[in-house]
Amino acid sequence: MSEIPVYPPSPEFVQRAHVKGMAAYRDLYERAKQDPPAFWADIARKELTWFKDFNQALEWEAPFAKWFTGGKINASYNCLDRHLATPRKNKAAIVFEGEPGDRRFITYQELHRLVCRFATVLKNRGLKTGDRAIIYMPMIPELPVALLACARLGIIHSVVFGGFSAEALKARIEDLGATVVITADGGWRRGKEVRLKDAVDESLKEAPQVRDVIVFKRTGSSLEMKAGRDHWWHDLDAELSKDPQTEAAAERCPAEPLDSEHPLYVLYTSGTTGRPKGVLHTTAGYVLQTMMTMKWVFDLQEDDVYWCTADIGWVTGHSYIVYGPLAAGATCVMYEGAPDYPAFDRFWRIIEKYRVSIFYTSPTAIRAMIRQGDQLPNSHDISSLRLLGSVGEPINPAAWDWYHRVIGKGRLPIVDTWWQTETGAIMISPMPGATPLKPGSGTLPLPGIIADIVDSKGEPVGENREGYLIIRQPWPSMVRNIWGDPERFKQQYWSRVPGCYFTGDAARQDEDGYFWVLGRVDDVMNVSGHRLSTMEIESALVHHPSVAEAAVVGKPHEITGQAVCAFITLKRGDWNHADLGKELRQWVAKEIGAFARPEEIRFTDALPKTRSGKIMRRLLREIVTTNAVTGDVTTLEDLSVVAKLSSQHDED
Ligand code: WT7
Repeated sequence: MSEIPVYPPSPEFVQRAHVKGMAAYRDLYERAKQDPPAFWADIARKELTWFKDFNQALEWEAPFAKWFTGGKINASYNCLDRHLATPRKNKAAIVFEGEPGDRRFITYQELHRLVCRFATVLKNRGLKTGDRAIIYMPMIPELPVALLACARLGIIHSVVFGGFSAEALKARIEDLGATVVITADGGWRRGKEVRLKDAVDESLKEAPQVRDVIVFKRTGSSLEMKAGRDHWWHDLDAELSKDPQTEAAAERCPAEPLDSEHPLYVLYTSGTTGRPKGVLHTTAGYVLQTMMTMKWVFDLQEDDVYWCTADIGWVTGHSYIVYGPLAAGATCVMYEGAPDYPAFDRFWRIIEKYRVSIFYTSPTAIRAMIRQGDQLPNSHDISSLRLLGSVGEPINPAAWDWYHRVIGKGRLPIVDTWWQTETGAIMISPMPGATPLKPGSGTLPLPGIIADIVDSKGEPVGENREGYLIIRQPWPSMVRNIWGDPERFKQQYWSRVPGCYFTGDAARQDEDGYFWVLGRVDDVMNVSGHRLSTMEIESALVHHPSVAEAAVVGKPHEITGQAVCAFITLKRGDWNHADLGKELRQWVAKEIGAFARPEEIRFTDALPKTRSGKIMRRLLREIVTTNAVTGDVTTLEDLSVVAKLSSQHDED
C-alpha cells in the first residue's frame, strides 16, 4: 500500500482561524458529543436572532425531529435585517457577474430593499404563509431575492434547476401544489439563451392551480405572456412606486415571525424509484447549521470574498450561496454561466477580478480544468485565494494534487466536504485551521455530528472495514420529511438501522478515525456531482414506443466521475440503431433534462436477470466498468449468454 501524505495546517492559517489546532477541534467535538441538543441550543441562542426564544432544543420522536420548539424566527431576517444594524449594512452581499460580462454589486442594505419589494409583490398577489412557490430561474441576483422574499413571508419555495425539462418541472409543480411560478424569460449559457419561460408555458398546459407566473426580464427575447396569468416582475415592482407611502411601506415589508419548524423549502432529489423525492427543510435548525459551517469549514472572516460555483438549483447553492453565507454576513460571488465560456479560464479570471479568497467547487470542475493545462490558472493572479473547497463526489488523488499544487500553490488547505441534500449542511469535513488533511478523505465529523460505519445488521464494522455510513443522532439541518410521503421518508432513511439515519453511502474509517466515502450503495448515480436515479431514467426510456426494457447504470468517467449508460431491449420492429440511439438520448433530455441524457446506449437482445426477474444491474455495472467505451456511442451486443448464465447462478 502506498503511503498517504498528510498535510497539517500552516501556522499562519492556524493563527487567524476560528478553530485553532486539533486540540480545539477535539475539545469542541467532545463537548458537543456529551449532549448534542444542549450544544446546539447554546449556539442557536448566541448565533441566531430570535423573535421569541425557544423552550426545548429537540423533540425527537424517531424519525421525526423538531428543533428549537416554541421559538419564533425568520430566515430572511437572519440573512438580511440583522446585518443592517451593523457596519455590514454597506458591505457587498452579492458580487454578480453575468455570462455576457455584466456586473452588479449588491450591498446588504440594497439586497434587503430588493427582497422587501419582491415580498410585497408576492403579498399583493395574495400569497401568504404556507403557500408554495416554484422558482425556475437562471443564476442571477433575482434568484436569491425570490428565495429570501418567500422565506420572509413563510411561503415554501422549491427551486427547480434550470436544466430540468418542462416535463420534470410539471411533475414538481404538481407534487408541491404550487400556486405561483417565479421565472425569467431565459438565462445565458455558452453564449446561447436557455429559454425558461417556454418550458414554464409547456409545463402549465394542465395545471389549473397555478394562478400567477412572475417573469423577470433577463435576456429580453420575445415570448408570449398569457393575459391574467403572466406578469412581468418589473411591472409588478413599478406598481410599488406609484406613491411615496406605498413605496416606503413596500421597502419595509416586515419578516413574519415563524415557528422554528416552519417549512423553509422543498428540494426535489433523485431517489431509488422513478419518482423524485421532495426533501423538506425547515427554518431555525437549517439556518443555524449552514451558518455555523461557514465559520467552521470555510473559516469565514469579515474581509473574505467567498465563491461557491454551484447552481442554486441544487442544495449546494441553497446552503452555500444563499442561506449559510448571507446569515454569516459574507460577500458572495455569483456567476451566471458556464466555466468554459468564452474560454476555460473564466473561473481564474473571476477569482482575479474580485479577489476571491475562498473558492468552493466540484471534483468534476477540477478535472475539466486539469485537462486544459496549468498555463490558464498560471496566467492569472489568483494570489487572493486562502482556502479551497470540494463537494459533490469523492475527489480522486490526482485531482486533489492538482488543485493543491496549481490552484493552492502547495500551501492552501482544501476542505473536502461530505454532505447530502438530506443533511442540509456539511457533516464531515476538515476544519482548515485544525485538521491535518489526507487527499481524498473528508476527514472527521463536525461538532454535533455522530457518524458511524456499520454492516448490514447495523453493527459497527471497526477500523479500516467498508460498510454503510450512518448518522446516529439527529442534527439541526436534517431533512424533516419527504413532501407528502412520510412512509417513504421512514422507509428510505430510517428503516435499516433503527433510530439512525441511513445515508446510502459506503465508507471506511481509517486508523486515525478519518472517513473515506466510497460512493453510493443504492441505484443512485453521481454524474458531475449531481444525483441521478437509474430508475428515473429507466422509466423515462420505457415510455418510448420502441423500448421494451431498459436498465441504466453509471459507468466510470474521466471527467464527470460517472456517466449514464443505458442497456435497451427493443419491441419487435425494424430499427435503425444509430438513429434510435440519438432519438432515445434526446427523449431522456426531454423527459428529465439534458444533464440526464445517457452518454451511451447499448442495444441487446436480453438483459441479465435473476430467476425472479430482477435486472442484475451489478453485472451491467461490471460490464461497463471493464470494457470502457468513451464518448456518445450506440452498440449492439449479445448479452443473452450472460443473461442465461446469470439467471442460473445469481439470485441476488
Ligand atoms: C451524495 C449527495 C452535498 C452537495 C452536493 C451533492 C456524494 C457529496 C461528497 C464528498 C464523497 C460525496 C455522496 C452523497 N458526495 N459530497 N465530499 N465526498 N462523496 O448532493 O445530490 O444530495 O448527493 O453525493 O455520495 O451521498 P446530493
